[in-house]
Amino acid sequence: MEVREAIEKRRSVRAYEDRPIPEEKLRRVLEAARLAPSASNQQPWKFVVVQDVESRKKLARAAGNESFVGEAPVVIAAVALRTDHIMMCGVHSYPVDLAIAVDHITLAAVEEGLGSCWIGAFSQAEVKRILNIPRQYMVVALLPIGYPAETGGLKSRKPLETIVSYETFSE
Ligand SMILES: Cc1cc2nc3c(=O)[nH]c(=O)nc-3n(C[C@H](O)[C@H](O)[C@H](O)COP(=O)(O)O)c2cc1C
Repeated sequence: MEVREAIEKRRSVRAYEDRPIPEEKLRRVLEAARLAPSASNQQPWKFVVVQDVESRKKLARAAGNESFVGEAPVVIAAVALRTDHIMMCGVHSYPVDLAIAVDHITLAAVEEGLGSCWIGAFSQAEVKRILNIPRQYMVVALLPIGYPAETGGLKSRKPLETIVSYETFSE
């Protein structure tokens, strides 16, 4: 699959089939995260792959009772292991690094016929407790992933002209 096709096909999937993800598919999806770029190539991440049904239900509760989170056969918790590094531009690198890796996962998932949904609405403390994640780390995202049980509509996006300016910034 071409990158463009995966980008166009990717949707936030909030309903999943009750069907496991074959091991080799999951590995290819995780490999896409491994290959992601990161500031100074620090790779400051750990991806916790949660398949246990009870743990998934607990994660769903920690995510505001969004049941689809627990219904996906796999939930990946993207954990930043270093949160102190600030790039010369003044921006923390860890949310950027983790977002790139998670986006690689979402696009690789599309290529495997899978869907996913970035979840940012969760209790940091609860998720750390459920997954035994040390306090100094930061869970940047939960990502339920599985075979989609719904088809998405058109992407609602701002037109290109309003989000791009040339040569200098303009409102
Ligand atoms: C950083 C981030 C956090 C998000 N958090 C949630 C969430 O907690 N729950 C949810 O259902 N969707 C969440 N989403 C999905 C967005 O709502 C979705 O990406 C957006 O509406 C665009 O739709 P699309 O992904 O189908 O193109 C999140 C997306 C991002 C990038």
